[in-house]
Amino acid sequence: MPVSGLDLIEEIIALKRERNAVILAHNYQIKEIQEVADFVGDSLGLSYRAAETQADVIVFCGVHFMAETAKIVNPSKRVVMPDEHAGCSLSDSCPAEKLEAFLKVHAEKNYYVVSYINCSAGVKALSDVICTSGNAVRMVERVPAGRNILFCPDENLGQWVMDQTGREMTLWRGNCYVHVEFTQKAIERAKFEWPDAPVVAHPECTKAVRLLADEVCSTEKMITYCKSHPAKAFVIVTESGMLHRLRREIPGKEFIAGPTDKCACADCRYMKMNTLEKLHACLDKLDPEIIIPESIRARAELPLRRMLDWSK
Ligand code: 13P
Ligand code: SF4
Repeated sequence: MPVSGLDLIEEIIALKRERNAVILAHNYQIKEIQEVADFVGDSLGLSYRAAETQADVIVFCGVHFMAETAKIVNPSKRVVMPDEHAGCSLSDSCPAEKLEAFLKVHAEKNYYVVSYINCSAGVKALSDVICTSGNAVRMVERVPAGRNILFCPDENLGQWVMDQTGREMTLWRGNCYVHVEFTQKAIERAKFEWPDAPVVAHPECTKAVRLLADEVCSTEKMITYCKSHPAKAFVIVTESGMLHRLRREIPGKEFIAGPTDKCACADCRYMKMNTLEKLHACLDKLDPEIIIPESIRARAELPLRRMLDWSK
């Protein structure tokens, strides 16, 4: 029988206990999922939580590459997600076969491949180190001097890291369809309307937008920045789910949705595929489950573990 509202939340909590499951949720998840999760965070925080958990089942409320990451570091655990179709445009922009072919054609460059965590297990398996928006600068700084770097798949994050580190890199031409919707014009308008509100932008935004921002950082750092900054209002230039996390954790301040040219509705259609009903069903059936061929998983674990070590 279908369940709803409070009953649904109670059933999710009961099923979670029964299955000895942990619910991990990304900052872009809908409010209701954030509120029922055991941990809400950015890709880096979620990777650590996934690597450290004692639970038998990991329920990953985020997108596919995030649940895959949890499985890569937990081969013996069951990792399930509410909707297996929750993908990522950025991850899709770099298919593993294309990256493999590129590396073959440019073999003389002997690239050190730094891959943003928003990529498939197949791409991770071809990489030397993984990074997130929270540690990309540190990861690139650790790459042995003199090595040519290929940064994939996000050209905007890559360009930002080049600006921060002064290190040249070849950039894969991928981007996030949500973050490139924020335009210089729209953010200029927001600055005019709220002159005292610092602009906080995710590094997946274009350079024209990043240059207008007072702070460029990962979703988790947005929390610490807005908490410690004396301002009372902030313009948040990232996916809409972040506003809920900020409002919940910093109740005394105002968070304004960064506008795009079309609207102020920066919803990631993939992140928003997860619902409480699907979360309930996946805990109940332990399906859809993440399965990765062992040869790929084992190769993907090396650069991911390297990131977790280098990030400590
Ligand atoms: P964070 O790691 O900063 O949370 O970013 C993940 C993401 O998908 C951004 O679009
Ligand atoms: Fe991927 Fe962009 Fe959605 Fe993040 S917001 S999951 S990068 S499509």
